[in-house]
Amino acid sequence: MGLLGKITADAFELARALRKETSGPRPSVKEAVKAALTQDGYKVLLMSRIRESARRWHIPGVNHALRLVTTVLYSIEIGNDIELGEGINFTHTLGTVIGGTSKVGARVKFMGNNTIGTAKDNGCPVIEDDVVIGCGARVLGPIRVGRGAFIGANAVVLTDVPPGAIATGIPAKIHERTNGVSSDAGKGASTNGVE
Ligand SMILES: CC(C)(COP(=O)(O)OP(=O)(O)OC[C@H]1O[C@@H](n2cnc3c(N)ncnc32)[C@H](O)[C@@H]1OP(=O)(O)O)[C@@H](O)C(=O)NCCC(=O)NCCS
Repeated sequence: MGLLGKITADAFELARALRKETSGPRPSVKEAVKAALTQDGYKVLLMSRIRESARRWHIPGVNHALRLVTTVLYSIEIGNDIELGEGINFTHTLGTVIGGTSKVGARVKFMGNNTIGTAKDNGCPVIEDDVVIGCGARVLGPIRVGRGAFIGANAVVLTDVPPGAIATGIPAKIHERTNGVSSDAGKGASTNGVE
């Protein structure tokens, strides 16, 4: 998919994420435009897509410059080898680092001040679609966070999290999901992103 296709898909999937939906009819153009214009997270995603294209086309300087811009403006750092699914929802961008070879699925929600990366140079996480990552949470190492899981605030996740589960604490322990969380994190099939 080209740059235009990606940034369009991001806007529609972000609009879907803001509806707290994971599948179903596509949001309207109006909703997608609103999401793109009003969400800081969309600007971060847009710059990441431009960086991806600049690297693919070997355009010098753009990747580095935009990485700096996102760090200065939004206090977020996204590495070069990251795979980002469509419509990632950076609710708060401040203090988030996504590093190494991490893969982040569609509509994953970052609540702010999150770190996704390696634990001891041994690989990086795969975060499936529709995961919610609470504020201050760290997800580290070659682990998989299943679709629709919820990572509690300030958790340090070092092991796999099953789809739909909740992980809290340091090191994170896995809990059954309660009703209150399920509507926020979302479940179900997705159209794209990390499987
Ligand atoms: C984890 C979370 C989703 C709650 O899930 P829940 O299943 O509804 O959990 P409950 O509130 O029923 O609590 C279950 C237990 O987990 C504990 N718990 C809840 N959140 C926790 C957290 N982040 N870390 C450690 N323990 C936590 C509760 O104290 C309770 O413990 P107990 O059984 O010993 O009494 C929620 O607390 C959370 O962390 N949300 C993230 C919010 C966030 O990031 N907001 C950012 C706003 S900008």
